[in-house]
Amino acid sequence: MAYVMALAGSAIGLGNIWRFPYIVGEHGGALFILVYLFFSFVISMPILFGESVIGKKSHRSTYDAMDMLAPGTGWKYLGLLTVISPFIIVSYYSVVGGWSIDYLVRSCAGGLNCASQESAAALFSRSSSTAWETLASFTAFLLLTAGIIVLGVKKGIEKFSKLAMPALFFLIVFIAIYSMTLPGSMEGVKYLVKPDFSKFGLDTLSFALGQSFYSLSLGVGIVLTYSSYMKDEDSVVKSGTSAAVFDSLFAILAGFAIMPAVFAAGIKPGAGPALIFESLPYTFSCMSEQMPVVGAVVTFLFFLTILTAALTSSVSLYEVCESHLIERWKMSRLKASAIIFVAAWLLGASCALSFGPLKDVEIFGNSIFGFCDLISSNYLMTLGALAFSIFAGWKMKKADVQSEVGSFFYFMIRWVSPIVIIVIFISNMLL
Ligand code: PHE
Repeated sequence: MAYVMALAGSAIGLGNIWRFPYIVGEHGGALFILVYLFFSFVISMPILFGESVIGKKSHRSTYDAMDMLAPGTGWKYLGLLTVISPFIIVSYYSVVGGWSIDYLVRSCAGGLNCASQESAAALFSRSSSTAWETLASFTAFLLLTAGIIVLGVKKGIEKFSKLAMPALFFLIVFIAIYSMTLPGSMEGVKYLVKPDFSKFGLDTLSFALGQSFYSLSLGVGIVLTYSSYMKDEDSVVKSGTSAAVFDSLFAILAGFAIMPAVFAAGIKPGAGPALIFESLPYTFSCMSEQMPVVGAVVTFLFFLTILTAALTSSVSLYEVCESHLIERWKMSRLKASAIIFVAAWLLGASCALSFGPLKDVEIFGNSIFGFCDLISSNYLMTLGALAFSIFAGWKMKKADVQSEVGSFFYFMIRWVSPIVIIVIFISNMLL
């Protein structure tokens, strides 16, 4: 139970509430959701099982797991890759986590009563580009994450996830119901259920696959690390399936909480990363003009939901780096946490400032923030997921893997998932 909650806690995060809606918005709504769901269960879930078996069989975190199961080979460097990618992700992820703290504080102080959609957008661009404000909220988020990590796996991560996950479901259902009662919101519902074939292209496939990896936290060693704490009698398939179902369900619910509100505000759904910050404060505050208190409470609850979901994911990212330093470099929990904190702060601060003072710095045409997101979620995670499925499908003993996942999923891990990833990855590079 604690394992499923921690895994679902890692999976359910900003990917579901912040990233999923704007990517759905940019890629034509319902059709994207269908492709995303298909990939999640047919390609990504088997990889999740594969990654999980590696952790369960080795009882180690990534680097040492590889070193133990394939001694004397180069596979352990994959372990290293999966320390680097969660590190990059946790750095820029904490910037968005910080925005949610910022908005949470503002909603308490009544500062989110935006009179128009333009003023909501202006507020977001002002607060995300003001150096001290974004650095303060980013640092607060990273500190919260580090605090849970210092408490440890049992007292920190498990306890927090067990409390947070049920609360998150309750909150998101409540917000979805509220959103769908707003005038003009039905357009948003239609957008989510009516496929638009004209928007379908090859990049839809790669974004849908990328989103499903991102959402399930695949290919960065999190599933592996969490699974290393599993007992022999625990079932990889049962717990992995529950986490995947919770994750997709939450993404869909978040879609229904956000898109109707976005349409009610009259905003274009393809507004990118700023989508929820630019639309929801306005929608919730102005739509309940007659009931300002209700609007304020819903706004507060919404940003609380985002913050909680973001924290359960960021601790999982932090923990992968943490367990590597503890196992490999024999550091104490506190020392490892402090080192990661300093390093992640430096990278994350550059990401945070790329919305303000550093906005002209470009890396291959992207902002620092955009580059970190692109390189980690589009390339490193895909590479990691591919490597885990090849490792579980080809390098490990067939009997070890098959006894955990059964012959159908073994076939999927060995053949289907890697081939689909390679085909989509290569065709995406060529086109
Ligand atoms: N799955 C998390 C989310 O949906 C994000 C994440 C990505 C966490 C990669 C860990 C690793 O927000």
